[in-house]
Amino acid sequence: SFRIAVFASGNGSNFQALVDAVAAGKLNVTIELLVCDRPQAAVIQRAQKAGIDVFAFRPKEYASREAYETEIVRELDRRGIDLIVLAGYMRILTETIVNPYYGRMINIHPSLLPSFPGVRAIEQAWEHGVKTTGVTVHYVDGGLDSGPIITQRPVEVREEDTLETLETAIHAVEHELLPYTVGLISAGRVRLEDRRVYIARV
Ligand code: GAR
Repeated sequence: SFRIAVFASGNGSNFQALVDAVAAGKLNVTIELLVCDRPQAAVIQRAQKAGIDVFAFRPKEYASREAYETEIVRELDRRGIDLIVLAGYMRILTETIVNPYYGRMINIHPSLLPSFPGVRAIEQAWEHGVKTTGVTVHYVDGGLDSGPIITQRPVEVREEDTLETLETAIHAVEHELLPYTVGLISAGRVRLEDRRVYIARV
């Protein structure tokens, strides 16, 4: 079956959404591996509970980014990973991973890209006072949240919202959009050509 590896750094609610979608029979993939750069992160317990293998590492224990990325790529290749899913992985990736996995690596970002790339995107949108924000899933390229967009969903900012209620609304949309998008890819419905994405209708 279609084998995915999820990269996450913290809470892992998006990782959990994938685990739950698989368990519910809504997503026909195997979650082969969790890659985590923070051995204390809550997402690791989520993986252990679900019986999913974990590759946890401390970046400081390596001589360079290239050194740990080379080790990760070896692990991904060994396991025959079809798709890498970045789900709250808060670290820039270099060409060591991006080049071999271009077109096979996606990221979820909590804004309507190209607005508000980088960290704290929900706060950035909130501070700016936008009336509509949302969620984007895109292929990963060498830039910061800059790769070809696969799916997006808008989230309205209501006058009664606070940053906290907006965050809750964004996360709820993320937890739908990420399993949905992984499902499209695993079903072979997503085509990337000349940096544009085409989704086949059923
Ligand atoms: C999610 O909102 C994700 O979109 C965001 O981090 C959060 C992780 O939450 N990612 C980025 O900001 C990437 N630039 P989670 O650990 O509960 O899934």
